[in-house]
Amino acid sequence: MDSKMQGLLFFCSFVFFSSIRDGYAGFTSSFVRSEFPSVDIPLDHQVFAVPKGHNAPQQVHITQGDYEGKAVIISWVTPDEPGSNHVHFGTSEDKYQSSAEGTVSNYTFGEYKSGYIHHCLVEGLEHNTKYYYKIGSGDSSREFWFETPPKVEADAPYKFGIIGDLGQTFNSLSTLEHYIESKAQTVLFVGDLSYADRYKYTDVGVRWDTWARFVEKSTAYQPWIWSAGNHEIEYFPYMGEVVPFNNYLRRYTTPYLASNSSSPLWYAIRLASAHIIVLSSYSPYVKYTPQYKWLSEELTRVDREKTPWLIVLMHVPLYNSNEAHYMEGESMRVVFESWFIKYKVDVIFAGHVHAYERSYRFSNVDYNITGGNRYPVADKSAPVYITVGDGGNQEGLASRFMDPQPEYSAFREASYGHSTLEIKNRTHAVYHWNRNDEGKKVTTDSFVLHNQYWGNNRRRRKLKHFILSVIDEVVSI
Ligand SMILES: *[C@@H]1O[C@H](CO)[C@@H](O)[C@H](O)[C@H]1NC(C)=O
Ligand SMILES: *[C@@H]1O[C@H](CO)[C@@H](O)[C@H](O)[C@H]1NC(C)=O
Ligand SMILES: *[C@@H]1O[C@H](CO)[C@@H](O)[C@H](O)[C@H]1NC(C)=O
Ligand SMILES: *[C@@H]1O[C@H](CO)[C@@H](O)[C@H](O)[C@H]1NC(C)=O
Ligand SMILES: [Fe+2]
Repeated sequence: MDSKMQGLLFFCSFVFFSSIRDGYAGFTSSFVRSEFPSVDIPLDHQVFAVPKGHNAPQQVHITQGDYEGKAVIISWVTPDEPGSNHVHFGTSEDKYQSSAEGTVSNYTFGEYKSGYIHHCLVEGLEHNTKYYYKIGSGDSSREFWFETPPKVEADAPYKFGIIGDLGQTFNSLSTLEHYIESKAQTVLFVGDLSYADRYKYTDVGVRWDTWARFVEKSTAYQPWIWSAGNHEIEYFPYMGEVVPFNNYLRRYTTPYLASNSSSPLWYAIRLASAHIIVLSSYSPYVKYTPQYKWLSEELTRVDREKTPWLIVLMHVPLYNSNEAHYMEGESMRVVFESWFIKYKVDVIFAGHVHAYERSYRFSNVDYNITGGNRYPVADKSAPVYITVGDGGNQEGLASRFMDPQPEYSAFREASYGHSTLEIKNRTHAVYHWNRNDEGKKVTTDSFVLHNQYWGNNRRRRKLKHFILSVIDEVVSI
């Protein structure tokens, strides 16, 4: 063996070992933050203020209304009577050339009687356009605005926020305010909205109402993409309420029909350069169930030439090394993980665990009952798993991580905060996790996310070219 060849081998083994050492050395932050107590904000606080005027619309929130970002669903509640069902909208302030008509409904939950809940689909919008809209009538009408996303296209830039397990405490308020400061355009919400289920009897409905007024300063102006968590289930036989997700489904609609889903609890949208798949951790998902069948079809509809970014949302994380909710994601992991690898999902966001954790690209699909394979291994085709269940609800933080930190876990910290994912083009996105720190927003974990479809193909071609040229050189000596 000549010295050049020895040099090459040495170089290779050096890269190999150093990547094991540095690449998979996880970090557990020991940061201890001062936090507000984990109790809900009192009902008479101004963050829950009811807008002035008879029957004024409140709890205004919007979500994407179709499969491509040319429609929104606008929802609101009128407290005293059904009132107008119309949304007036247009592209300049005070001039509402168009209108759309929605639906209105009311319901009871135990003894609680809801207000009149309006949902209105506003469609046929132009991409990349600011729209103003007005709801309600006379003196008590209210005006808001939103911006439509760019057209579905491979290099369309877009900035998402990721929030989970928000609740309605002063920690939640910090998270919401920091999120608004981040100037992201759409929230990917990973479940557990109001924590109203921590109350009893009529207070459950009351706390769903306060939560929707609390988040209105963001939800009225930009889409929040909803997914359901365990706190949305609300199975309460003691008060005769046994239909799961009742309060949630009455109030929060999703565009599930546009992706041919049979349930608002799981669906997909395309938004700018991203294809976003929302799953339900608390609906059947094993083989032969509707959610399983729908996901198998939706994955074949993903076109990475048009939407390079494939993002999945769910409530329960598939990889979690916190003692809280440990292993709860295992059953879904067993069913879906091989698909996430086959379809090269870029990133999976989850909540549920009230802490922050990010994984390396690892998978555990080679499990074989007679072979020796039973541990997660590094896998370039696997998604990055990110848990952001740290919105700040009244249950407090999950501060005990398993020790030692498993190999797949890259970064973990038990603090409140939110994340942003800023897509730059088809190959690059910049990710940040922002901790709430003494009222300030502090970026604590960040990295460049390389697209699994475009980034990797290009990197592989480059690498292949490099290796061939080195071998060429060695052979020609
Ligand atoms: C809905 O509102 C109507 C009056 O507008 C009322 O008569 C009815 O009882 C309400 N329904 C429920 C389920 O609360
Ligand atoms: C949903 O199904 C309808 C009818 O089969 C079809 O026309 C439409 O393209 C489907 N939508 C999606 C997003 O695949
Ligand atoms: C499981 O492992 C055994 C022993 O290594 C091997 O013979 C078998 O083919 C594997 N089965 C599968 C399904 O991979
Ligand atoms: C994508 O964005 C990154 C980061 O801004 C930049 O370095 C890269 O050159 C861009 N790639 C393309 C194909 O435009
Ligand atoms: Fe949860």
